[in-house]
Amino acid sequence: MADSKSSELFSRAKARIPGGVNSPVRAFRAVGGDPIFISRAEGAYLYDADGVKYTDYIGSWGPMILGHAHKDIIAAITEAATRGTSYGAPTALEVEFAEKICELYPSIEMLRAVSSGTEATMAALRVARGFTGRDVIVKFEGCYHGHADFLLVKAGSGAATFGVPDSAGVPSATAGNTATLAYNDLAALRALFADKGDRIASVIVEPVVGNMGVVPPEPGFLEEIIALCKKHGAVSIFDEVMTGCRLSRGGMQERAGLRPDMTCLGKIIGGGMPLAAYGGRRDIMEKVAPIGPVYQAGTLSGNPVCVSAALAQIARLDAKVYTRLEELGARLENGITAALQKKGAKGVVQRVGSMITLFFTDKPSIKSWDDAKGCDTERFGSFHRKMRERHQYWPPSQFEAAFISTAHTDADIDATIKAVEESI
Ligand SMILES: Cc1ncc(COP(=O)(O)O)c(C=O)c1O
Repeated sequence: MADSKSSELFSRAKARIPGGVNSPVRAFRAVGGDPIFISRAEGAYLYDADGVKYTDYIGSWGPMILGHAHKDIIAAITEAATRGTSYGAPTALEVEFAEKICELYPSIEMLRAVSSGTEATMAALRVARGFTGRDVIVKFEGCYHGHADFLLVKAGSGAATFGVPDSAGVPSATAGNTATLAYNDLAALRALFADKGDRIASVIVEPVVGNMGVVPPEPGFLEEIIALCKKHGAVSIFDEVMTGCRLSRGGMQERAGLRPDMTCLGKIIGGGMPLAAYGGRRDIMEKVAPIGPVYQAGTLSGNPVCVSAALAQIARLDAKVYTRLEELGARLENGITAALQKKGAKGVVQRVGSMITLFFTDKPSIKSWDDAKGCDTERFGSFHRKMRERHQYWPPSQFEAAFISTAHTDADIDATIKAVEESI
C-alpha cells in the first residue's frame, strides 16, 4: 500500500481536499486505512489506480443496480451529450422522466427533478412546511436524509423533545425545530403527536433504513406514520433515495402497499448521474414555484444527460431484475450466516432485497440506532481490512448497507462468502 498509486494520490489529495475526499465516508476513517483511488469500473468490479480488481458491494452507494458501465446506459449518456450537455430550458426528456416516475410511484402525482438526494429532502421539507404553515419536522435517529442544516440534528438529552445540532455550523435555533425519535418507536411518535401534533409539519423516514446498516421497519411502523400525519394534518415523507427502485421498481412503498404524501428519490433513478427528485400529492406539489409560494430552483435540474441515463436505467428495471437480486441477496445472506455459525462468531445479518449488513453484535436483531451503536466497530474494522486484502470492496463502516447488483454472479457471491468466512 505504502508505495501504491492510491497512497501517492491520497497524499496529493489531502493537501487540496479536506481529508483527501469529496464525501467523508470515502475516507475509510471508520475502519482504519486509506481510501482506494478508482480508475475504472465495469459490471460488478472496480479497478484501482494500480490496476487491482475488487468485487464491489458499494455500487457508488446505491445507484449501480445494473452494475458499472452498463452498455445501454453509457450509450444513452454518450448520445445525449452530443446534443449538448445543458440548456437551462425544458425538454421532452424531462416530461418523459416525470411521467415514468409517476407511473412507477402512484403516490407521486407531480414531481420536481433536482440534482442530489440532499436537495430532494431539503426541498420536500420546505414544501411540507409551506403547505402546512407549520415549522416542526420529525425524523428518526439513525436515518440519514442528506446534509441540510435542519436534518443534521440529534436528539436532545433526557426528556427534551427537540433536537440539538449534530454538526458545527448548524444554528441551535434551526435544530430546535427538528424532533428526533428512535426508529421503530411508535409509542414515542404517538406521544409526540398527542402533545404537539398541531405544530408538526412533517415526519420524514427511511422506509427501510440503510444509513445505520440495514434496519427494516417493524410491522405497522410505516402505516402508523402515515395515519398519524393524516390525522394531525402533517405531511408524511418517505425518503426512498436509497430504497427507491432498489427494493422494487416502486420502492419500499410498492413492497409494503403504502402511499405516503410525499417521496424523495435519488441514486438509482439517476443511473449513476447526479439526478434526484421529490414529489407527491398534487395539492402539496402545487405549492411549488412558479405556481405556488414555495421557492425551489436549480441551474442543472433535469439535466438532459442525467435524465437520459435515468430513462435508460429505469427502462431496464423489469421483474426479472428484482427476482435475480432476491436470489443473489438470499445466497449472500445464507452464506454469511453459515460462516458465522461455522466460526462460532457473534453477529447478525440483516437484509431486505439487495441491501445487506453484517452487524457485529450479540443482539438477535438491530431495530434502532441504540441497538446499532452498540455494535463492535473494532471487530468490524478488522473484518473490513481483511475483506479488502481479499479484494472485496465492502462499505467502510458498520453503519452502511452493502448493495448487490445484477452484474454480480453466483461465483462472485460465493467468493465473497469465502472471504467473509476468512475475515470474521
Ligand atoms: C436515504 C438517503 N437520503 C438522502 C441522501 C442524500 O443523498 P445525496 O448524497 O445524493 O445528497 C442519502 C445519501 O446517502 C440517503 O441514503
